[in-house]
Amino acid sequence: MTVQPIRLFGDPVLRTPAEPVVDFDAELRKLIADLTDTMREQGGAGLAAPQLGVGLRVFTFDVDDVVGHLVNPVLEFPDSEEQDGPEGCLSIPGLYFDTKRRLNVVAKGFNEYGDPMQIVGTGLMARCVQHETDHLDGVLFLDRLDPKGRKEAMKAIRQAEWYDPGAPPVVKVSPHAAASPFGLGG
Ligand code: NI
Repeated sequence: MTVQPIRLFGDPVLRTPAEPVVDFDAELRKLIADLTDTMREQGGAGLAAPQLGVGLRVFTFDVDDVVGHLVNPVLEFPDSEEQDGPEGCLSIPGLYFDTKRRLNVVAKGFNEYGDPMQIVGTGLMARCVQHETDHLDGVLFLDRLDPKGRKEAMKAIRQAEWYDPGAPPVVKVSPHAAASPFGLGG
């Protein structure tokens, strides 16, 4: 198992748009394996790379026993039908709020070897694909709530046991200070 810690609400990586994947290499496949293992361990319907602190456009899903992944997703909506129902996020643990989403989606992208693939999703799969693609844009499902719902959600987050408003931002700094472009030596 290569289960990794999941970044929680408040971590700036969750608000940072991710970069497209360029290299379909062993490192990408390791990332996808970590995402898959962590998602399944936590019982999530999906997990996006930024939730493991990696700013790349890739997510995994586990919906109705269909487990997979998508790299560099681009969403298309075949119609204007909507759904409304409870949605949660492993980065906002234990909290669920009714969230409006499109009912049907076609997600085009690539598999871990760079082969084109697409997901034609409805219902929960469509919800998952939209939620995870939002993560890649630095968007959380809270942003999809109406102002009243968002206010309620923020109140619940502030009261959540896991929420630490004083947590310092997690920033990776090179151990090789002398080689750092940011001049952090000394
Ligand atoms: Ni999420």
